[in-house]
Amino acid sequence: MGMVGGGLGSFIGPVHRMAATLDGEIAFVAGAFGSSAESSRAGGARYGLDPARVYDDWRALFAAERERPDPIDFVAITAPNHVHFPAARAALEAGFAVLSDKPATATLAEALTLAEIVAATGRPYGLTYTYTGYAMVRHAREMVRAGTLGAIRKVVVEYEQGWLSRPIEQADDRQAKWRTDPATAGIGGCLGDIGVHAHNLAEFVTGERVIELCAEVSRFGSGRTLDDDANVLLRFAGGARGVLISSQISAGARNGIRLRVYGENAGLEWSHENPDRLTLSPLDEPQRVIHAGMPGLSDAAQRATRLPTGHPEGLIEAFANIYRDFAASLQSGDAGERALVPGIDEGVRGMTFIDRALRSGAQGGWVGMDMGAE
Ligand SMILES: NC(=O)c1ccc[n+]([C@@H]2O[C@H](COP(=O)([O-])OP(=O)(O)OC[C@H]3O[C@@H](n4cnc5c(N)ncnc54)[C@H](O)[C@@H]3O)[C@@H](O)[C@H]2O)c1
Repeated sequence: MGMVGGGLGSFIGPVHRMAATLDGEIAFVAGAFGSSAESSRAGGARYGLDPARVYDDWRALFAAERERPDPIDFVAITAPNHVHFPAARAALEAGFAVLSDKPATATLAEALTLAEIVAATGRPYGLTYTYTGYAMVRHAREMVRAGTLGAIRKVVVEYEQGWLSRPIEQADDRQAKWRTDPATAGIGGCLGDIGVHAHNLAEFVTGERVIELCAEVSRFGSGRTLDDDANVLLRFAGGARGVLISSQISAGARNGIRLRVYGENAGLEWSHENPDRLTLSPLDEPQRVIHAGMPGLSDAAQRATRLPTGHPEGLIEAFANIYRDFAASLQSGDAGERALVPGIDEGVRGMTFIDRALRSGAQGGWVGMDMGAE
């Protein structure tokens, strides 16, 4: 595996590295870790890589690796959003599979083009929508599919953070800086950073697609051009209705992604604060708390669990589940092995969600999520 991004001081690069290597099945051997040759070399040194496979930039990475007798099989893209599309395109066209962090691209137009490139090259493409890797999220999905809840009527998904409550990008916070700049973040601020996670989680668990939405999108941080808060009403194809909250100015909130799904017969709740638990609330029965690692859980949940029940697993393991499924599919050539790994369809849907929420926020009223249209 190679990596683009994830150099010194990066948040998610080391998480990808830990997740990729957790099960001892993926070798992390190459990369381009920064926006300059110098920062790339510093990043590669931190990971202890052979300097010969630490490249000045991602163009050099793909050009050199494709000439090697032992090239990388895939690249993890962990750089800021504006790098996702050009790096993914170059990797796919050089013959490499891509596991990209979200959002898929910076704009919807890029995502639509990327979908064409994935189809034309036939190379595997996956997205690390982290929360889909949790055992109990996968179990929730299985419960909905098995009809435990009955027909889905209501979906409430929220993702609140508070770290952008003040305009810390003006005080040179590097993370905040690129996330609040359209040149590096793309069209979405908070919607692109965390709203897409909430949208993807709701669709992943329910198996239902959002077909229309109505959003109020705000900018609280002074001087910001991108959104930092959004409240979105959702209509799903199967008739369910939903509410999505995405906020980075909810002071005091940490990383509060939470999903509640209500069917005709029962509701379920999953929260990132207690990710190894799922609460099932049947209409006329006592509530049940289901724990990861318990006997009787779905195969999907058991395959995503490494430790006996009561031994907490978290973000690294959730990421590692996505890596394991993606790598297994590359090794066997069986795309079915990555059935639970979000792909380019989910990438386009995520970018469509941001685009439509912004459009609804600007013009008011309901907007369709019709795919393929800009
Ligand atoms: N899946 C998740 O839960 C999750 C969580 C956090 C971040 N992310 C995503 O990961 C990406 C990075 O976020 P972060 O918080 O780690 O950012 P960060 O600012 O902490 O790190 C970004 C890294 O990319 C490097 N970089 C910048 N331009 C580059 C280029 N042209 N080529 C190679 N490297 C380059 C920087 O030097 C830095 O090392 C973003 O797209 C973000 O949306 C996903």
